[in-house]
Amino acid sequence: MRDIVVVPSLLSADFGNLASDIRAAEECGVSALHCDIMDGHFVPNITFGPMIVAAVRSLTDLRLRVHLMIEQPEQFIERFVEAGANEIIVHAETCPRLHRTIQQINESGAAVGVALNPSTPLCAIENVITDIDTLLIMTVNPGFGGQTFIEAMVPKIARARAMADDAGADIDIAVDGGMDIETVGRVVNAGANVIVAGSSVFGLRLSVTQACQALTVAAQAARDAGGA
Ligand code: DX5
Ligand code: ZN
Repeated sequence: MRDIVVVPSLLSADFGNLASDIRAAEECGVSALHCDIMDGHFVPNITFGPMIVAAVRSLTDLRLRVHLMIEQPEQFIERFVEAGANEIIVHAETCPRLHRTIQQINESGAAVGVALNPSTPLCAIENVITDIDTLLIMTVNPGFGGQTFIEAMVPKIARARAMADDAGADIDIAVDGGMDIETVGRVVNAGANVIVAGSSVFGLRLSVTQACQALTVAAQAARDAGGA
């Protein structure tokens, strides 16, 4: 059974004060940060590229999990790894040769993540589930922070965990979108162990450290209550 971890998404951080937001996340004991890369094509929003990932790298030794919401991600894998990414997460929807793209990420030295949009069925990754480190179940449609958690993703998470267990794949099942102290319990009970959270970490009146700790406590309480 993998540890439950909260991974702050920098999408909702204050980019004018990135260093202090990253320091606050470090102070609450997280082990990784989530970087959202958007191209204005695969998703209707644009964020940042390898230059900013390199800037984040220069500010922290935390593991960087880089979520590529971009068309043709295979063109940019090495550049993000050179910038400091420790894990590259591609969307199955953008990878017609997903098996090959997974190999490419492996060869780059980064850990491998594959993300699925809410409407994408799990069969999209069925044949590669033993080749990946993280399956990221999008719990909102990708593109923006602060959206409402899609409740119908709870049984999908449970099916994903069962599929991984059946295949003998001890992978992280991550969830991304709409995570807060109220929704986190349901995804943890369903089998998620990596909780990506943006607005509920960086966007509350609580300090970043307090918000992050509150989410971690809620997630671990759900795991304990479930007897897992
Ligand atoms: C959305 C991004 C998320 C985003 C989540 O497309 O992939 O990582 O930061 O934001 P919240 O936690 O605010 O839903
Ligand atoms: Zn993300």
